[in-house]
Amino acid sequence: MGRSVLVTGGSRGIGLAIATAFKEAGDEVAVTYNTSPPPEGFLGVKCDITDQEQVDAAFDTIAEQQGPVEVLVANAGITRDTLLLRMSDDDWDSVIQTNLTGSFRVARRAAKGMLRLRKGRIVFISSVVGLLGSPGQVNYAASKSGLIGMARSIARELGSRGITANVVAPGFVETDMTAVLPEETQKQYLSQIPLGRFGRTEEIAKAVRWLSSEEAGYITGAVIPVDGGIGMGN
Ligand SMILES: NC(=O)c1ccc[n+]([C@@H]2O[C@H](COP(=O)([O-])OP(=O)(O)OC[C@H]3O[C@@H](n4cnc5c(N)ncnc54)[C@H](OP(=O)(O)O)[C@@H]3O)[C@@H](O)[C@H]2O)c1
Repeated sequence: MGRSVLVTGGSRGIGLAIATAFKEAGDEVAVTYNTSPPPEGFLGVKCDITDQEQVDAAFDTIAEQQGPVEVLVANAGITRDTLLLRMSDDDWDSVIQTNLTGSFRVARRAAKGMLRLRKGRIVFISSVVGLLGSPGQVNYAASKSGLIGMARSIARELGSRGITANVVAPGFVETDMTAVLPEETQKQYLSQIPLGRFGRTEEIAKAVRWLSSEEAGYITGAVIPVDGGIGMGN
């Protein structure tokens, strides 16, 4: 039997690649989704991470079906891009509620079970934008930087109980989230990436799987960039 893994927002994009990587390694993988269910082979649990009741119910279902969560990947996230002066309270709140508060909710709930197990791995999916900033993404960048402070605080609180908390910071990865960006913006990003191409979802997934493996047992509070070099030095 593999470990009980949960990937939030694992029905598509980077989350689905992460879920697939764990499945291939022999783990039992649950995937929460908001609107689009995952493909076959995963325990799909409908759960809006902005709703605490749905989060609690999802963790109960997962514990029943595949055991308490031992590896949590807080991946679900959204963007609502616009310039600062045009950014509404709703643009701000929805992004912070999903990306930051949602990740807090699932981490808090997962930590409960991990403390009982006296082991666990938490990986937050941040973004290079949380380190470099990005025009039009004040809400998104703030939410993604916030994950770093959260992970490092959890790493300090729970390290002595065998629980690690780390961050993966992807650069520009080809998914639905980036497909909507104007061609001009995509070209601009591309010109700044030392490796000269956008990332693939599987490349993010491999870093997450490794961080959650035995081999990375002495790594906690770290921010691992998987960004083709765009955020170098940050
Ligand atoms: N793509 C990139 O270039 C890039 C770069 C850096 C960081 N990231 C981060 O990587 C993560 C995944 O990005 P992606 O590109 O794969 O995005 P995506 O294709 O847009 O997928 C987002 C996922 O999050 C889920 N989700 C959104 N709101 C949710 C909510 N309230 N409750 C539960 N699930 C929710 C979606 O579920 P439904 O399908 O059910 O709506 C979907 O599975 C995000 O945190 C993103 O910020 C992406």
